[in-house]
Amino acid sequence: MTATLPHPAVYAGADAPVSGRLSALADTLIGSEVLKIAGQVNALIAQGEAVANFTVGDFAGDFGLPQTLTDGIVRHYRAGATNYPPSSGMPALRRAVADFFQRELGLDYRPEEILVAGGARPLIYGFYRAVANAGDGVLYPVPSWNNNHYVHMVGGTHYPLPTGPETNYMPTAETLAPYLPYVSIVFINSPLNPTGTMISAEALERICKAVVEENRRRAGTKKPVWLFYDQIYWMLTFGKTHVHPVALVPEIRPWCVYIDGASKALAATGIRVGWAAAPADATLAASNILGHVGAWAPKPEQLAVAEFLDKPNELHGFLCDFKTKIEARLQKIYAAFQNMKNAGLRVDCIEPQGGIYLSVRFKLRGMTTPDGRVLADDEDVRNYLLVEGKCAFVPFSAFGVKNGDGWFRLSVGGVSETQLDEALPRLQNVVQKLA
Ligand SMILES: Cc1ncc(COP(=O)(O)O)c(C=O)c1O
Repeated sequence: MTATLPHPAVYAGADAPVSGRLSALADTLIGSEVLKIAGQVNALIAQGEAVANFTVGDFAGDFGLPQTLTDGIVRHYRAGATNYPPSSGMPALRRAVADFFQRELGLDYRPEEILVAGGARPLIYGFYRAVANAGDGVLYPVPSWNNNHYVHMVGGTHYPLPTGPETNYMPTAETLAPYLPYVSIVFINSPLNPTGTMISAEALERICKAVVEENRRRAGTKKPVWLFYDQIYWMLTFGKTHVHPVALVPEIRPWCVYIDGASKALAATGIRVGWAAAPADATLAASNILGHVGAWAPKPEQLAVAEFLDKPNELHGFLCDFKTKIEARLQKIYAAFQNMKNAGLRVDCIEPQGGIYLSVRFKLRGMTTPDGRVLADDEDVRNYLLVEGKCAFVPFSAFGVKNGDGWFRLSVGGVSETQLDEALPRLQNVVQKLA
């Protein structure tokens, strides 16, 4: 190790006691922090509490699949499409995704460069496995959704890069430069879960150029750096334009992996259809890996999604209505936070950009509750807002941030308009009660 080598981070579960009965991975892997909080919230709801659940990145109530997609799935089940699909995905869907990428994003990928799986998760895991050896460095900005777990699962070396609101929680060419020589993967997600922020064309272009430069330096001497671009929320943007690597810097294409899917844009988290676009060798490698896992999307779902993607008018009609509802909720919350802030309350909120999330801040540490308890940390703040305000949020610490400083993720997918209208005054009321 040279003095200039950036210090890798240690995975939070790494020091867990080893049972000797199960694998070291089983002993050290941490479960989803978000689901842990969701469990607490669901227990309260089961006791009859009317909690506004802003925790899960999922959909409920009036958010559901496009009707023609549901009909298509049922039709294909009835027609008996219930045997094994090919492990790389149904040819009809790989072709439909290639056409969809061409039409909507100007991207030129052949069907054999498209991999389909049971949602974006297996694709992320499969491509990590396809390009990273144990020990390889992975750079991911923090806060980040689950990259720490994927890096741990592949035995990689963690390089979490702290980011802040000033860069929309995105890395920049400057901030990642010290790490670039030591990593095999740079992972970027835009629109970003958990913050609802997006990367700018200029920032992404400069990062892509830095990766291309690094790979030119490495040519033939060291494994290249891959840029993973998770754009699962790209169809849900509000006022800002989604940008993506190959359109900005075509030279990045040999080392770029797009992660995408139906889960978020079609309010279809449960049908488990994801797709990725990458060079054919990496696609085949990830397909072989996932083939042994059997992480396929069911055939009827794949066939129905292919048909749906082939109908741009229906797709855009659905998106228009869906986005209007999501944006209305995001804007209502943003306005409520602005009002609270203007009234002198210690809260903040970043303007909605994309996805189903808002970054909201409750700078309430050190304040005292009406019954005399001091809120010592963000966990106390979270519990106070949940128990007294009946509003559930996820602190940024669940996304790898060391000192969240009062920032939380708020997801709007699981709340109705009515719940929102009731929750916002309740929230203001409990924040006002602190001294
Ligand atoms: C940024 C991001 N990528 C990928 C996924 C996984 O999507 P899927 O449900 O298709 O596995 C999620 C889900 O929350 C996500 O937020």
